[in-house]
Amino acid sequence: MEAVKQINVGLLGLGTVGMGVVKIIDGHQEDLMKQTGNRIKVVKALVKDINKKRDWTRSEQLLTSDPWEILRDPEIDIIIEVMGNIEPTFDYLMYALKQGKHVVTANKDLIAMHGAELLAQAKESKCDLYFEESVAGGIPIIRALVEGFASDRITKLIGIVNGTTNYILSKMSEEGRPFEEMLVKAQELGYAEADPSSDIEGLDAARKMAILSNLAFHMEVHFDDVMLKGITQVTQEDIQFSKQLGYEIKLLGIAKLNDNQIEVSVQPTMINKEHPLAKVNGVFNAIYVYGEAVGETMFYGPGAGQLPTATAVVSDLVTVVKQMNLGVNGRGVIPPYRNKQLKSDDLIESSYFIRLKVVDEVGVLSLLTHPFADLRVSIQEVLQVPANEEGKAQLIIITHTTSKAQMNQLIEEINALDVVDHIYSIYPVEEGEAE
Ligand code: NAP
Ligand code: HSE
Repeated sequence: MEAVKQINVGLLGLGTVGMGVVKIIDGHQEDLMKQTGNRIKVVKALVKDINKKRDWTRSEQLLTSDPWEILRDPEIDIIIEVMGNIEPTFDYLMYALKQGKHVVTANKDLIAMHGAELLAQAKESKCDLYFEESVAGGIPIIRALVEGFASDRITKLIGIVNGTTNYILSKMSEEGRPFEEMLVKAQELGYAEADPSSDIEGLDAARKMAILSNLAFHMEVHFDDVMLKGITQVTQEDIQFSKQLGYEIKLLGIAKLNDNQIEVSVQPTMINKEHPLAKVNGVFNAIYVYGEAVGETMFYGPGAGQLPTATAVVSDLVTVVKQMNLGVNGRGVIPPYRNKQLKSDDLIESSYFIRLKVVDEVGVLSLLTHPFADLRVSIQEVLQVPANEEGKAQLIIITHTTSKAQMNQLIEEINALDVVDHIYSIYPVEEGEAE
C-alpha cells in the first residue's frame, strides 16, 4: 500500500484565527485525508510572545518566535498567515513565495495594499496564493467571483462587508439608541476591534471592497481608489427619517462598472427597505453580485469570528493540497489584466437624501428649489417637519438620479442661501436595481 504523504503547514500567528485553524485541521483529519489523500499537519507556529498563556495542548516546541524557523524550513510546504499587519508580514510572504512555499492568508489589509505584487510573485514562483478569508469570513465570495462568475461579466457589487458597523446600525435602527451606546455594546460583545476606528471609519470595509472589485473587474484596485466615509456621523434622526421614507441606512460598499470605467465606494447609504440587503442585520455580512448573464445573486453569512474565518482558511488549504497532487499550483493565479479607469465625479450617479434646517417662512421652498432647477437636479420627494427651534423647519429631500459632481455643486449653492441654517446630512440612496 502506498504511504500517505504528509503535508507540513507552518502557521504565522496563533491568535483567534490561528487557534481556529489548528482546531479544524486537528478535528477534521479524516475528512481532510479523504478529500486530499494526504495527512495535513501544522508543524510549527509563529507567535510574538512565546511565554504568553494560551489554550494550546500541543507540544510547546511547536511554537517559535523566530519566523525564519518556518520560512527557511524546507520541510514546510504551505504557509498560513494569520498574524495580521503589513510589515513584517509582506516581507515574510514574499520570501515564502520566492522559496516555493504556497501561501494562504486572512490578511485583508495586506491583500488590499500589496495583493498584485504578491500574486505576481506567486505566478512567477508557480505557487498558490489564496485569501478567501480576507473578505466576509465564512462566505466563499472570493471563490464565487474567481470561479463561479468566470464566464460572466460582473457589473455591480453591493456589499455589507463589515460586521461591526452592521451590528451598530442595525441596533440603532431596531432599538432607537444612539451610535456611541451601540459602539460600546459592540465592543463589549467583542465584535469591534480593540481600536474600532478601522471599523467605524470604514477602512476595513474599504480594504475588502478593493479586494472584491479587483477580482470582479480584473483591475488593480487599491484601497486609495475607494471613496470612503464611515458611520460616526449617522444619527438616530437620520435613521428615523429614512425609515419613514421606506429605507434603512447601511454601510454599503458599492462597486460599479460602466463602459470599462469603475467607481468603488464605502459610505452610509439609504437602501430600500424591501431590498434583501436592508434585512441583513447584526454582525452578518452579505454581498450582492450582478452579472450580465446571471443577473442578481446574493451571498450571506458570518463575516468574522474564529471558526467561520478558520474554516475558510482550511478550505483554501485543501485547494492548495489538491493542486499540489495535480502539480498545477500557481496556474489559477490571475493577476489583474484590465487597465484600471476610475470614473470622474460627473459619471458617478446616484439619488440622494438631504436633511437640512431652514427658516420657516413664506417663499423659502421656492428659493431653495432654484439651485435644483438651475443644476437640473430633479426632486423625487420632500418632507417638512418642525425643527426643535422657534421659526425653523427641517426639510428632507430625496432627489432623482444625479451625478456626484452636480450634487457637490448643489450642496455648495444651497449652503450659500440665507434661508438655509444647516445641512445635517447627505446620503446616497440605493434602490438596488441592476445597472
Ligand atoms: P490575533 O488574535 O491578534 O492573533 C495574531 C497572532 O499573530 C498572535 O498569535 C500573535 O502572537 C501573532 N503575531 C502578531 N504579530 C506578530 C509578529 N510580528 N511576529 C510574530 N507573531 C506575531 O489576530 P486574529 O484575530 O487571529 O487575526 C489574524 C488575521 O486574520 C488578521 O489579518 C485579521 O485581519 C484576519 N481576520 C480575522 C478575523 C477575525 O474574526 N478575527 C476575520 C477575518 C480575518 P501572540 O499570540 O504572541 O500575541
Ligand atoms: N472587524 C471586522 C468586522 C472583522 O467587523 O467585520 C472581520 O474582518
